[in-house]
Amino acid sequence: MPIFGIMKSRPRRNRKSQAIRAMICETHLDVKHLIYPLFVQEGVSMKKELISLPGNFIWSPDTILTEIDACMALGIQSFVLFPKVAAHNKDKTASYAADPDNFYLNTARSIKKKYPECVLISDVAMDPYSSDGHDGIVENGKIDNDKTLSILQDMSIAQAKAGFDILGPSDMMDGRIGALRDTLDQSGFEDVSLMAYTAKYASSFYGPFRDALDSAPVQDPNIPKDKKTYQMDPANQREAIIEATLDTAEGADFLMIKPAVHYMDIIHLIRQHADLPIAAYHVSGECAMLIAAAQKGWLDFNTAMPETLLSLRRAGANVILTYFAKSYAQLVKKGEI
Ligand code: PBG
Repeated sequence: MPIFGIMKSRPRRNRKSQAIRAMICETHLDVKHLIYPLFVQEGVSMKKELISLPGNFIWSPDTILTEIDACMALGIQSFVLFPKVAAHNKDKTASYAADPDNFYLNTARSIKKKYPECVLISDVAMDPYSSDGHDGIVENGKIDNDKTLSILQDMSIAQAKAGFDILGPSDMMDGRIGALRDTLDQSGFEDVSLMAYTAKYASSFYGPFRDALDSAPVQDPNIPKDKKTYQMDPANQREAIIEATLDTAEGADFLMIKPAVHYMDIIHLIRQHADLPIAAYHVSGECAMLIAAAQKGWLDFNTAMPETLLSLRRAGANVILTYFAKSYAQLVKKGEI
């Protein structure tokens, strides 16, 4: 028996054709919203696939230019660069990070020379260069916040000199946004932006990244075994507001939430409390899960992947750092999205 008269509202009417669905679509994701993380290592002619993040590679300074070439042709304009540092260049103070002639900074110089129009984002943190595998300096079994700040300041000046457009402090030390902003401004780099890793959680989902860079905390009784004294507790929401308020006051240009998919509530919350652009970092482990399920034939990658990225935009992210940036751009190019 039809229920005429009872159901005045039939939401399905707004879904009845592709044209209507397109007209009322609330969330859009474009390739220009994506930031592509790329890994670089000293060497030549290298392109080494990551075991725990298939489809992503470690490049050498020469081959990374060909990858950026390919990405720019697909409309990707923004890249975040991470270094894999050889063990002999690691020490307790991450001194190699500020060596003006290190391969990471030289790679940035050659990328900006060839593509001045691209947006190049750095990683400001000690861990890839630290023999302890930490984002801060370890003293007496603890991470010394304020000593770390001056190391990060030196690193940031070296990165600004190399031509990075945006610096990305991912270390979670207190006061680092203000410290970097001060030092950059005093050195004439007031146009260099800061993308603060505002709410970065002590997450298990960084595994493939740490495999790739060999940057996990060193297992030694005198070294903290994890990053829980500086990265945030996955149980906490309100602390993210404290961090966002501080980063905003200290001069951040972007606020980042990391990881992304498992922390969409935090993205949504910060969207309500802050007016700065929000970045979501769809981290290595979150991407690896999807790749693994697709490889098993349990999920359709070409639809599950764009749905994931769209969900992050719906939650409130303006820009998304994702290892799927290139795959997404390829689908757009093929007309599949
Ligand atoms: C380094 C850094 C990490 C990631 C980005 N910057 C690792 C960590 O904090 O241990 C992880 C990114 C990813 O998993 O994709 N400070």
